Amino acid sequence: MPVTVGGRRAPAGGPRPPAHLRSPEVRVVPLAADDRALERERLLLAPAERAHADRGTTSVARRRAMLRAGLRRLVGEVLAVPPATVPLRSGSHGRPELDVDGVDVACSRTGDVGLIAVAAGLRLGIDVEAITPWHDDVLDEDWLSPAEQHALRWLDPGARAAAATRCWTRKEAVLKGIGTGMTDAVADLEAGIGEDVVLVAGWRVHDVPVPPGAVASIAMLPVGTDPFGTPTPERSSHGHAHH
Ligand SMILES: CC(C)(COP(=O)(O)OP(=O)(O)OC[C@H]1O[C@@H](n2cnc3c(N)ncnc32)[C@H](O)[C@@H]1OP(=O)(O)O)[C@@H](O)C(=O)NCCC(=O)NCCS
Repeated sequence: MPVTVGGRRAPAGGPRPPAHLRSPEVRVVPLAADDRALERERLLLAPAERAHADRGTTSVARRRAMLRAGLRRLVGEVLAVPPATVPLRSGSHGRPELDVDGVDVACSRTGDVGLIAVAAGLRLGIDVEAITPWHDDVLDEDWLSPAEQHALRWLDPGARAAAATRCWTRKEAVLKGIGTGMTDAVADLEAGIGEDVVLVAGWRVHDVPVPPGAVASIAMLPVGTDPFGTPTPERSSHGHAHH
């Protein structure tokens, strides 16, 4: 698998994904950090990543820096390269993109919980969210499909908050995998309520275990499959489908 760094093709023998990466490597990253830890992690970031992080409030800047550095550390580890040299950039809608053919990354955060993933041969999307307290008004919110609203009504009231938030993370994971982020079409994505593994618009979506108080999902699609759900064999030899 050829590797491109900074738009140029790296010499043969550059970082290659290990075979076990066919299943995604997913990690929870604690985003709380003291000043020393934060400075250490910020040194791993590219100037544009530091500038992006610093656009937020102090706590957002810290969480962004810790998340991005965590992603660099994970990818550096699996590709056996120093984290600061990982060829990571941001795509047009802010999606993290790795310039290593056939290898994809994803990340998300809620409060001080970060979630990062890397895989070979799969396009990824990931989302972690703090469980939103339940209110019956949620049943009327336009991001739920009629079938999801119906399924939530049948659930034990005590289980609805986590189930609704999980449904949200499934949809957001798929939309982040596609790269568009949240769109008006959220209700059209049937993500279901319940079951550990679901197919959403052609994406395989799994629950991811995270600390109590939050839920998370990862969405996966084989490289070479159109992110919008239509098989496009001609893309299969080119790694990511870019938009
Ligand atoms: C993507 C999106 C759903 C993220 O929402 P969120 O719940 O605040 O963020 P999460 O914690 O789940 O994930 C954040 C990380 O996802 C990544 N990300 C950002 N945009 C992304 C996208 N379009 N697709 C996939 N991943 C994305 C980034 O690494 C981001 O980290 P950062 O906040 O530290 O920069 C939201 O930003 C969105 O809808 N964006 C699309 C709209 C758009 O085009 N905005 C212009 C940005 S240039």
